[in-house]
Amino acid sequence: MSIPCRARPQDGIAWVTGASSGIGRAAALELARRGYTVAVTARRAPELAALANEVKGRGRIVPAPADVTDAESLRAAVEAVEAAHGPIVLAFLNAGLYVPVSGTDIDVSVYRRTFDVNVMGTVHALAAVLPRMAARGRGQIGINASVAGYGGLPRAAAYGASKAALINMAQALSFDANPAGVTIQVVNPGFVETPATSVNEFPMPFIIPVDEAARRVADGFEKSGFEITFPRRFAYILKALNLLPYRAYLALVGRSTGGASSDGPGSSTR
Ligand SMILES: NC(=O)c1ccc[n+]([C@@H]2O[C@H](COP(=O)([O-])OP(=O)(O)OC[C@H]3O[C@@H](n4cnc5c(N)ncnc54)[C@H](OP(=O)(O)O)[C@@H]3O)[C@@H](O)[C@H]2O)c1
Repeated sequence: MSIPCRARPQDGIAWVTGASSGIGRAAALELARRGYTVAVTARRAPELAALANEVKGRGRIVPAPADVTDAESLRAAVEAVEAAHGPIVLAFLNAGLYVPVSGTDIDVSVYRRTFDVNVMGTVHALAAVLPRMAARGRGQIGINASVAGYGGLPRAAAYGASKAALINMAQALSFDANPAGVTIQVVNPGFVETPATSVNEFPMPFIIPVDEAARRVADGFEKSGFEITFPRRFAYILKALNLLPYRAYLALVGRSTGGASSDGPGSSTR
């Protein structure tokens, strides 16, 4: 069995999706600062060009605009990037969408869009890059999920379910990818100050600045753990809550967030 890969700048370039703002943008800057040439993908090409300009003379960021919901354009972007700049050895699949939803008024289009971008967008990115890494026997992929994927949270039925899918997917992929020389990691941030969280009207416990999140992601890529999560205290509280029987979990989360029922469904298998 191959030793799982820890990417280094001398082995190839990095690729970050969702790099036009927030965590992806900050992570691209941090990886460039650590010596990588970084290919950056998102739909807004002018923001990617501005990002590339920002590091000129101090690092190298190359725009590769694409929509992650379009599998073919993503595949073509990766092919063009590798032809021009060399093999992608580190991929941070971060593009994502957060739309809070009501628990009683189900807007199908929001669920579909959330799954198209967060889940299928990640699958399209994996399809574009993972087989190439496996053929070379070398690569590292971080899938950006969320602590919201650990268990259901108020107003997060669409978003949290999409992130739970990504956590499960990352675990499942690692069984085959790691022996092929491709390390799979899952990134589970708590609250981070970005345009996505600026819409939240509720207090966000343990929220951290985006530059700190980017450093934590890049540090995690240099270590060996499967999960990269921060702030740790928040993640551990949520993990502990998820060990409780469902009735206690639903009551505690409902009470502490002011959301949903304070008493869960009558029966529990957990
Ligand atoms: N902020 C948090 O507290 C937090 C916590 C846990 C997890 N996360 C996750 O971190 C990731 C980044 O979130 P953020 O907070 O940094 O949000 P953000 O600032 O809104 O960034 C989202 C990024 O995703 C890109 N994107 C969205 N739809 C896309 C599409 N169809 N094709 C290509 N790119 C697309 C956006 O670029 P364009 O609009 O230019 O396409 C943007 O660059 C998401 O996966 C999010 O779920 C965030």
